[in-house]
Amino acid sequence: MSETIDSLVSRKNVIAVICNQWGDTGKGKFSDYFAKNWADVIARGTGGNNAGHTVVLNGEERVFHLLPSGIVYDKDGKINILGKGMVIDMKVLCSELSELDEKGLSYKNLMISECAHVIMPYHIERDKRKHQSQANGGIGSTGRGIGPCYEDKIGRRGIRMLDLFDSFGKFNEDKLVKKINKSREYYPDVKLDVEKILEEIKPYAEKIKQYICDADGKIHSCMAQGKKILLEGAQGLLLSIDHGTYPYVTSSDCSLNGTANGVGLCAKAVDLPLGIVKYPFMTRVGAGPFPSELGGRRSEEYCANPNNTLLTELENYGISYTSENGKIKYEPHDAKILELIHSKDDFEKGIGIRLAAKEYGATTGRPRRIGWTDAVALKYAIRYNGPKVILTKVDVFAGLGGYNLVLGYDGGDKFSSDADELSKVNVNLSRQGGFSEDISKMKNYNDLPQQLRQSIAVLERISGGNVKIVSVGPEAHQTIIK
Ligand code: IMP
Repeated sequence: MSETIDSLVSRKNVIAVICNQWGDTGKGKFSDYFAKNWADVIARGTGGNNAGHTVVLNGEERVFHLLPSGIVYDKDGKINILGKGMVIDMKVLCSELSELDEKGLSYKNLMISECAHVIMPYHIERDKRKHQSQANGGIGSTGRGIGPCYEDKIGRRGIRMLDLFDSFGKFNEDKLVKKINKSREYYPDVKLDVEKILEEIKPYAEKIKQYICDADGKIHSCMAQGKKILLEGAQGLLLSIDHGTYPYVTSSDCSLNGTANGVGLCAKAVDLPLGIVKYPFMTRVGAGPFPSELGGRRSEEYCANPNNTLLTELENYGISYTSENGKIKYEPHDAKILELIHSKDDFEKGIGIRLAAKEYGATTGRPRRIGWTDAVALKYAIRYNGPKVILTKVDVFAGLGGYNLVLGYDGGDKFSSDADELSKVNVNLSRQGGFSEDISKMKNYNDLPQQLRQSIAVLERISGGNVKIVSVGPEAHQTIIK
């Protein structure tokens, strides 16, 4: 009997959907599928509103940055958890909750770990000044205060959810004033008006108060009751503070271990970790090494420039589009886009793939850097996230011609921990035959074009990965089990 997505997870208790690259690999489709059809509990363990995924609220698409995708199934009694490893901007959380309020959608089963850290206004100010811009050596952060908040956590001066209220449930001004004052010396560049800060955060804290709890205790009691738990990863292994391309990383450990730890679980409890890989191209946002990047340094600099957007790319290359309520529509297989993809200039080829695949950030709108899928990087990611892989966006390459796969680096196949070294490696590419069939309606792995299956076999052989699922479109039914 061929396996279905439901049989793949049928006897599992805890599954994790994580990313094996630099994020933006389409976790949302699978998180949403498992949240809807399988899980009783959906939990996020790392990061904050640097992430972003699309949710459909009463038929309308919205991008959420904090709430797990399972929040729309709260009405079915599903529990959604923001775990202790997260850093939470309460203003952003409240605005996502207000959207649910406006649509009449419930979130009564939401749980926020009392140990999650609070992103304070001064974290955001510091982040924007120091790291958001890639000019002057900034890493091109999302500017949401993620890094500075984690710095205060590690520096043992952070503010946790449980600091917001005293044991009588009263907003704990005294404690907060002391804590903020303790941070003062670390923020000489930021004006810290304590009174103003408290005034700003109090209404948000009051709104989320009833959801703050011992989320670790809850997740363990759910496990004991045999409930099914979905861990929703954020960012990707190559952005992990511990395993990623340091210092060009986010400030949390977005590996399998970090994600499990961030909800109070041991990684051993996860009986099916699924690591996502975009194929046959991959992307990166922000600064840092990207060995297979099309156009190399020129592409990195171009994508760092805030003046370069989807709109400027469409205008510059004369691609026709329409714009309705801020939504830009165009034909991804427009002849001019195909021309770019077949350009001899790698930089232009990258722009063509970006346009065809619509690779612009959900959180920041930035053009994503484009390169070929890298089997060396995948082999490295699999060390930490396990061998089971989901390939996404595979349908995008139908009709676009041949593509390359990175099989090794000059000088070996080491994914160096030294960012300077990694940024200098030359990649060894293997040309793979393209396919023209529309694979978006295919149901069986063996129906996929032979040259595509052959290239997937090469990826598996070099990386040690075991491809379990191939995603051939954004809809849940466009999923092939291998
Ligand atoms: P931060 O997480 O805002 O501190 O940003 C650190 C680095 O991680 C920057 O290069 C960001 O572009 C990148 N980053 C953070 N979150 C995401 C994400 O969800 N997808 C892709 N890149 C991300």
